[in-house]
Amino acid sequence: MVKKNTCIFISGKGSNLKNLINKSRDYNFPINIKLVISNNVNAEGIKYAKKNSIPFMYINTRVRNFEYRIIEELKKRKISLICLAGYMKILSNKFIKLFKNNIINIHPSLLPKFKGLNTFARVLKEKEIKTGCTVHFVNEKLDGGKIITQKKFFLKPNDKESDLKIKTQKLEYLAFPEAIIKLYRKG
Ligand code: GRF
Repeated sequence: MVKKNTCIFISGKGSNLKNLINKSRDYNFPINIKLVISNNVNAEGIKYAKKNSIPFMYINTRVRNFEYRIIEELKKRKISLICLAGYMKILSNKFIKLFKNNIINIHPSLLPKFKGLNTFARVLKEKEIKTGCTVHFVNEKLDGGKIITQKKFFLKPNDKESDLKIKTQKLEYLAFPEAIIKLYRKG
């Protein structure tokens, strides 16, 4: 199998990055992680790139033309899939168009419910019965692209935000790899 050259974008902890690096070691898993990009120089997740000798790029989004620099790097490394794993910046429409259908994101709610930030607090406030995570294509609408995979769980009466986060992330570690496999499944 020819694995797809993949870039993971992060901003923080990087636990999804860590999970995807581990999965990509499996010879049947359809991607190779060739680049990690972070907009946060202090992102904890950078350590996983370093530990695994994966090229890493810090991008200062306050610099004009920063996306141009990203595009150059992605082209140079022949990247064909971009995974947003806790990347907290919005990509420009131009960028999204350029990589149309090749950018996917993981979001901590059952989209189309709870787009945007602070999902766990809003899930509790709305007294939802269930919640979970979604992997979806990125389009010009925030958290609005076609859904690839969702995983859900039912809330317990005393669940706090921190409980929801733990339970959601556990599901994320299943959902992201599953979505990637689904993308490249033949037939
Ligand atoms: C995940 O919960 C994801 O749903 C959201 O950001 C979080 C990133 O976590 N988009 P991590 O950095 O992968 O640990």
